[in-house]
Amino acid sequence: MEEKKKVMLSGIKPSGDLTLGSYLGAIKNWAERADKYDCFYFMADLHAITVRQNPADLRRWTLAQIAQYIACGLDPKKNTIFIQSHVPEHAELGWVLNCYTMFGELSRMTQFKDKSAKNADNINGGLFTYPALMAADILLYQADYVPVGEDQKQHVEICRDIANRFNGVYGDVFKVPEPYIPKVGARVMSLTNPTAKMSKSENEDTGRVCLMDRPEDIMRMFKRAITDSGSEVRFDPENKPGVSNLMQIYSSATGKSFETIEREFAGQGYGGFKLAVGEAVVEMLRPIREESERLLADKAYLQSVYREGAEKASAVAARTIRKVYKKVGFIER
Ligand code: TYM
Repeated sequence: MEEKKKVMLSGIKPSGDLTLGSYLGAIKNWAERADKYDCFYFMADLHAITVRQNPADLRRWTLAQIAQYIACGLDPKKNTIFIQSHVPEHAELGWVLNCYTMFGELSRMTQFKDKSAKNADNINGGLFTYPALMAADILLYQADYVPVGEDQKQHVEICRDIANRFNGVYGDVFKVPEPYIPKVGARVMSLTNPTAKMSKSENEDTGRVCLMDRPEDIMRMFKRAITDSGSEVRFDPENKPGVSNLMQIYSSATGKSFETIEREFAGQGYGGFKLAVGEAVVEMLRPIREESERLLADKAYLQSVYREGAEKASAVAARTIRKVYKKVGFIER
């Protein structure tokens, strides 16, 4: 008998153009694993509206993200690709899990603290209870692994706590998932401020590189990247955050180890190194950009992908929500 595959699941908020950070921290890790796992990847549009979005931009970014997922190597025949709001069980389980998530634990989430500091005029309930919805996303599919960047680790940990709490009351309802974080590239920093994370929605035009950026713009960004004092290419995140960030990017793009990179650029200074990193990124992203552009022109195909994806996802999600409703004492419809 064929053994049941382990489940892998992750999502990204379509709240901006996908960056090199999301690619190296998350998506690159997904594409290589379709044969071994049963994979679910979605556009987290419900999460995106915890910060005010322009509706036209949200729609555009959501479609672009689907095209980019596929262009990054996620074959829709092997991976379930869908839009979160198309599977209403996310919102339904999100509500139930809100009732099993504590005010104190939500208050400790660093993303909530950061985002509420940045959006002081819109600290809404959704921003606060965001981790309960994220737990629902994961637990609905009984995921074993959640491949994310370092910044989402805390959210996967609270998801584990919520799952354990729920299972403690009702028996083994949910699989308790594990975060799956890459060794290199888990936290790509801004090129102009290497102490801040490279982000979709911030430091526009300055410290970030997007998957759809043109080669000449990417090269310009890397030429302008902030390095550190001295001139030695050496991995030392504390004292050389700029150079170390570039080394992470280069290592992730080329597969070379830090020692190899240090040897390759010994005695050459930062100038040549920055150009080499830029060129490696251009070559890594070129096929992704070209394929995304081709796919984006084919709206009917994208529609068929997200429709089929929602259907497959719903079949799994419906099973879990039925079980949860029964456990908590709701009468079956
Ligand atoms: P989001 O949309 O902020 O980021 C998407 C993914 O990209 C990773 N990432 C990075 N990795 C390395 N360096 C960076 N600079 C960088 N920026 C982003 C993130 O860690 C993430 O993996 N809450 C999630 C979306 C979500 C989700 C889920 C994820 C909703 N439900 C269920 C997994 C499972 C978020 O806001 O990611």
